[in-house]
Amino acid sequence: MSTRRRSWAEPFKIKVVEPLALTTRAQREKAIENAHYNTFLLRSEEVYIDLLTDSGTSAMSDYQWAGMMLGDEAYAGSKNFYNLENNIRKYYGYPYTVPTHQGRGAEHLLAKIMIRPGDFIPGNMYFTTTRAHQELAGGTFRDVIIDEAHDPANLHPFKGNIDIGKLEALVKEVGADHIPYINVQACVNMAGGQPISLSNLKEVRKVCDSHGIKIILDATRAMENAWFIKMGEPGHKDRSCAAILKDMCDLTDGCTMSGKKDLLVNIGGFLALRDKHLYELACQQVVLYEGLHTYGGMAGRDMEAMSRGIEEAIQDDHLRARIGQVHYLGNKLIQEGIPIVQPIGGHAVYLDAKRFLPHIQQSDFPAQALTVALFLESGVRAMERGIVSAGRDPATGDHRYPNLELVRLTIPRRVYTQAHMDVVSESVAACYEEREWVGGLKMTYEPETLRFFQAHFEPIGTWASAKNRQENAALAGSSEGMQLD
Ligand code: F0G
Repeated sequence: MSTRRRSWAEPFKIKVVEPLALTTRAQREKAIENAHYNTFLLRSEEVYIDLLTDSGTSAMSDYQWAGMMLGDEAYAGSKNFYNLENNIRKYYGYPYTVPTHQGRGAEHLLAKIMIRPGDFIPGNMYFTTTRAHQELAGGTFRDVIIDEAHDPANLHPFKGNIDIGKLEALVKEVGADHIPYINVQACVNMAGGQPISLSNLKEVRKVCDSHGIKIILDATRAMENAWFIKMGEPGHKDRSCAAILKDMCDLTDGCTMSGKKDLLVNIGGFLALRDKHLYELACQQVVLYEGLHTYGGMAGRDMEAMSRGIEEAIQDDHLRARIGQVHYLGNKLIQEGIPIVQPIGGHAVYLDAKRFLPHIQQSDFPAQALTVALFLESGVRAMERGIVSAGRDPATGDHRYPNLELVRLTIPRRVYTQAHMDVVSESVAACYEEREWVGGLKMTYEPETLRFFQAHFEPIGTWASAKNRQENAALAGSSEGMQLD
């Protein structure tokens, strides 16, 4: 057999396109200043390549769009709900589904029905909205992920794994009665999109069974996690991602889901459960906060698109290309010598801002500053995942200082091409070459919860304007940037 390398390619062709606008550096300076140096506050038309998030930013297929025309917009009992419920039973295996407008809607319902004030909820690293809902319900989050996950350079292939010792220690400390469930996230977002192994999940099940603790999967990126199990965990190479996903869910009691990620839709989510009583409690809550239990905040057409998204997203060919594209970008950055979180995760490449900008102390928000520098450099929009996202400790009121101070380059599904990834990689490399110019930020407005979304910042000193002068001189009279070679 020939040993010639055979590339993967996207298992689709493009039917509709959306033009992108190139901007000048002067326009970007104005835009980021107006956005208070927070990429969440930019207008999307000011952005060239948008890697803020993979959430709700996917391109739907013709099959999904065709399903949108079959929306049954009845208030109660829409046929699209039953299609969705059937597909969740078939692919995830949970008998009861409560649709929600998106993932945090499901997290809210779950917290309401399961957490009592004073409870503890262990999890494999926090996620922003997940922890916020646990805390709003009077619970306290406890991180039980393995230590390797907090080290951006550690090459453990399953950095999403739970540390069984930490879990047992928490049970001992607070008692199983005060732990309603463990929240197990697939492809742990804040760790860099790092997967959990099936064997670790089995161990967690054993421990939880011995203490009567439930397991709730955050299945937002569970299909992508299944791909990592197929490729990296012994014994799964020849199995389908569909079979692996089912195995993962079989080990859990239910899931919260943001359909905006794995499931290739622009809006939607669900809470799915095995226990009928819990399902009934969730039905009582969903009518208050989302909508009737057969639409939960979604239009019929959106439920149809999500149901069809399940069928498409679980295909091995889709997952190979999806994760292949993320790894293509990550490997290019590694070749350029850029410090990124390794191994490369499933939905994004994470720049390690501590190593990228070692001259900026963490309290001056280096990752936030790097998102600003990258946007100024090339119009690429990324997201901070460091001290700003971590927020304040409710007990002490101080910043939390996470070990991981990251910038996430998040790849939407089926949206950008390999050429876009090349441009991104070159932009990051250009930023890295000139990194000394980038300075810190100070926060000038801080919302009380989930501050990263809406906080305002200002550059400390004159780092931006010093660079402006340089660039403006260099660019005088020339059209910016790109070379046609
Ligand atoms: N769980 C995980 C692991 C997530 O990544 C998200 C959202 C949610 C829950 C909440 O879902 O947005 O539909 O309400 N993550 C987005 C992101 C916002 O950009 O990573 P949602």
